Amino acid sequence: MQTQATYDDQVVRQFAVMTVVWGIVGMLVGVVIAAQLVWPQLNFAEWFHFGRLRPLHTNAVIFAFGGCALMGTSFYVVQRTCHTGLFAPALASFVFWGWQLVIVAAAITLPLGFTSGKEYAELEWPIDILIAVVWVAYAVVFFGTLAKRKVPYIYVANWFYGAFILAVAILHIVNSAEIPVSLWKSYSAYSGVQDAMVQWWYGHNAVGFFLTAGFLGMMYYFVPKQAGRPVYSYRLSVVHFWALIFTYMWAGPHHLHYTALPDWAQSLGMVFSLILLAPSWGGMINGIMTLSGAWHKLRTDPILKFLITSLSFYGMSTFEGPMMSIKTVNALSHYTDWTIGHVHSGALGWVAMISIGSVYYLLPRLWGRTEMYSPRLVTAHFWIATIGVVLYIASMWIAGVMQGLMWRATNVDGTLTYSFVESVKASYPFWTVRLAGGVLFLAGMFLMAYNMIRTIAGNKAVDAPVLTPVAAH
Ligand code: HEM
Ligand code: HEM
Repeated sequence: MQTQATYDDQVVRQFAVMTVVWGIVGMLVGVVIAAQLVWPQLNFAEWFHFGRLRPLHTNAVIFAFGGCALMGTSFYVVQRTCHTGLFAPALASFVFWGWQLVIVAAAITLPLGFTSGKEYAELEWPIDILIAVVWVAYAVVFFGTLAKRKVPYIYVANWFYGAFILAVAILHIVNSAEIPVSLWKSYSAYSGVQDAMVQWWYGHNAVGFFLTAGFLGMMYYFVPKQAGRPVYSYRLSVVHFWALIFTYMWAGPHHLHYTALPDWAQSLGMVFSLILLAPSWGGMINGIMTLSGAWHKLRTDPILKFLITSLSFYGMSTFEGPMMSIKTVNALSHYTDWTIGHVHSGALGWVAMISIGSVYYLLPRLWGRTEMYSPRLVTAHFWIATIGVVLYIASMWIAGVMQGLMWRATNVDGTLTYSFVESVKASYPFWTVRLAGGVLFLAGMFLMAYNMIRTIAGNKAVDAPVLTPVAAH
């Protein structure tokens, strides 16, 4: 007989709503900085300058939007797959409020210009300490819940969430080691090329564990649930899990090609990045093939459309990444918009779309409704978002290759064919298309917010109980 369990969903509801809210805020800032590149006069104040708003954008979309999606879904999934309520629900509530405090602190300090200058780890030391405290509390709740599970096995989604939580703790603590000189200023504990290497060991694993492993955890729960099919291959999921987490740790040097980093370390990073294609595609194939026997659902189910399209973008960006890590390819792509295109095929195509699909799955269930207020709006959101991503990444690819080729072009006498400013001028049309893509993607998020509010308000309310034990797997 199925164990009866009561689930603590208050914190999941809070995280689900804030995922949409921070998604809108973060992407709005993305649209603003995209507009600033098209119209430089929009950089009208120090605190509103591109240089200050860009880290605000990356922090808001990765840690606020992505972080809330990961924390909320992990708390939902770990309870369902362990057939038990959360360990220490009060601590889970602290995780929610503590994380919101981190985000608000980031939103205030970054435009004011307080920064440690390390990409994706810009926040100053007092906020770093708060992050560490909240993260440890998060780990205690998650692993505590695993420990009190009522089933003998640990479902694979939890392996991915667990690896994400452990790795991010280690990455954050090591890379944020710094010497404070005042309340809002610190210097890195490392110097020179060691500092760069630690930073990109962190930076690449932030991609590997924050932007990938955690979202694969999401994928392993929500794709089978929404498709109504078991995971295609449990064995593949275990093999690609170990291969992925082992390989990611070594790939960081591909961010430092042709720098003062020893040549052998650069080559090592390149080789591990190429190997990374295999475990990444293992995950993508496992997710997409889970649809075997249920392909027809893709025609009518907009949530499944989000989930499966996100996996296609995951496959695409993890093919592109290894290619860009080849030193000769990187010689062309580095510093150009090609990197920005790659980032957003992962960030918008994979991270945002899997989160959006998962939150659409959750919202009606968390508020005891049978479905979203308007499934047609979900479909509209899917198409608007997809067109938005395609405009964004295609324009950046073309701009990137163009910039790389213009910068390396030489005349017969060895002088440069183009000045830098000429490459900037040539980039304007593509930046405008990127802006249009971003506006579309953001518009989709507003549709989602409207649909969410109407769903919560209960226009299609039914009597479904909120705290139903769901048979997991
Ligand atoms: C409406 C949607 C979005 C728009 C319009 C947008 C726009 C931008 C722009 C204009 C930049 C600066 C590019 C440059 O420096 O030339 C940027 C950087 C970045 N964005 Fe977004 N973005 C959006 C969504 C997202 C999302 C959802 C994520 C992550 C989940 C994300 C992650 C990043 C990252 C990591 C960078 C830094 C890339 C690098 O340093 O190479 N963005 N974005
Ligand atoms: C097999 C997987 C992947 C590999 C080997 C890979 C490789 C690379 C390479 C070579 C770069 C350019 C480094 C440079 O020239 O500076 C890069 C940049 C980046 N990638 Fe990937 N990538 C992978 C997957 C992903 C995914 C799935 C995402 C997002 C979800 C992502 C996010 C980023 C970001 C944010 C940057 C920009 C970092 C920065 O300079 O600020 N990557 N990646």
